[in-house]
Amino acid sequence: MAMKIALTGIKPTGILHIGNYFGAIKPALALAERYDARYFIADYHALNMMKERDALRSSILEIAAGWLAAGLDPEKVVFYRQSSVPETFELATILSAFAAKGLLNRAHAYKSVVQANIEKGADADAGINMGLFTYPVLMAADIVLFDADVVPVGRDQTQHVEMAQDIAQAFNFNYKKELLKIPQAAVEEDVAVVPGLDGRKMSKSYGNTIPLFAPEKELRKLIMRIVTNSQPVEEPKDPDSSQVFALYRLFASPQEREAFAARLRAGGMGWGEAKEELFQVVNRTLTPIRGRFCAFISEPERLTRILDEGAEKARALAKVTLTRLREAIGITLC
Ligand code: ADP
Ligand code: TRP
Repeated sequence: MAMKIALTGIKPTGILHIGNYFGAIKPALALAERYDARYFIADYHALNMMKERDALRSSILEIAAGWLAAGLDPEKVVFYRQSSVPETFELATILSAFAAKGLLNRAHAYKSVVQANIEKGADADAGINMGLFTYPVLMAADIVLFDADVVPVGRDQTQHVEMAQDIAQAFNFNYKKELLKIPQAAVEEDVAVVPGLDGRKMSKSYGNTIPLFAPEKELRKLIMRIVTNSQPVEEPKDPDSSQVFALYRLFASPQEREAFAARLRAGGMGWGEAKEELFQVVNRTLTPIRGRFCAFISEPERLTRILDEGAEKARALAKVTLTRLREAIGITLC
């Protein structure tokens, strides 16, 4: 039986942080062991929010180096840039004809900008481009173009995958045929929301991130900035309501996790010491990844070559889907 297909993308809108790593990259790489994987850099999605040429260019290279440093093997995973697969954009045009405007009106990402505008007393659509509004349609095209079965993402992206399901179902319903595979989101519940320095979801937009490739000194400084309560050293502490522990558990072995939680509960460990322990396990995990990242980022030609080779494989697959769909919708005449 053919292997199932896993697909995911990351948009290059800044440097990777540990929320991206645990919420998206690591689970995706684990899935790639069992699935036929197609992982890509969603560069045209990024254009909606990144209009600065050099920043977009370097972010694309950084995300590429990040995936590879985290362990993506381009011999096993089809790894490419969205922009190198023009079939995606033709499919987005096709899907637009099946995506209800009402559906897109309900997208959280769009709605939250509208809400913020209204709260500021600005025009509801201020600063909203059509790319942001139709973002879920392009994402649906990314997914169904490759017949993806599962889409590993963080929890914030599940609505987008559900929209891809709705759009694909509307398409199949119209032609009375299972022309498009209905994808499922795969959310790793344990790491669905990695907290940031301030306790909210770690996110570029909140400025509360720990970058995945921060040099050691910066890493320690950031970890020391994690917000904690003002409990004195001797007081017993509840691991489950602490961000320090929430981050520690991601990096530590089960035994280390248990021991750390027990020390917090017993009292006698202050937050400063706890953060130092956290720094040790984070740095232990990130040091080799950081080293590989620096090696890749210093060789942009190599990165480009890897992505171009991936794009060739991706296009061969994409063309098969597009031929099938063009035929089905009546665009192919003979
Ligand atoms: P950001 O919120 O920093 O802009 P993105 O939206 O670019 O991050 O997210 C890229 C991927 O990483 C998505 O699959 C998203 O679900 C995941 N992700 C981002 N932040 C977190 C987090 N704090 N916890 C878990 N997953 C996350
Ligand atoms: N919207 C995703 C994000 O912001 C990125 C993305 C674009 C994606 N196309 C995709 C994720 C297709 C999964 C599948 O993180």
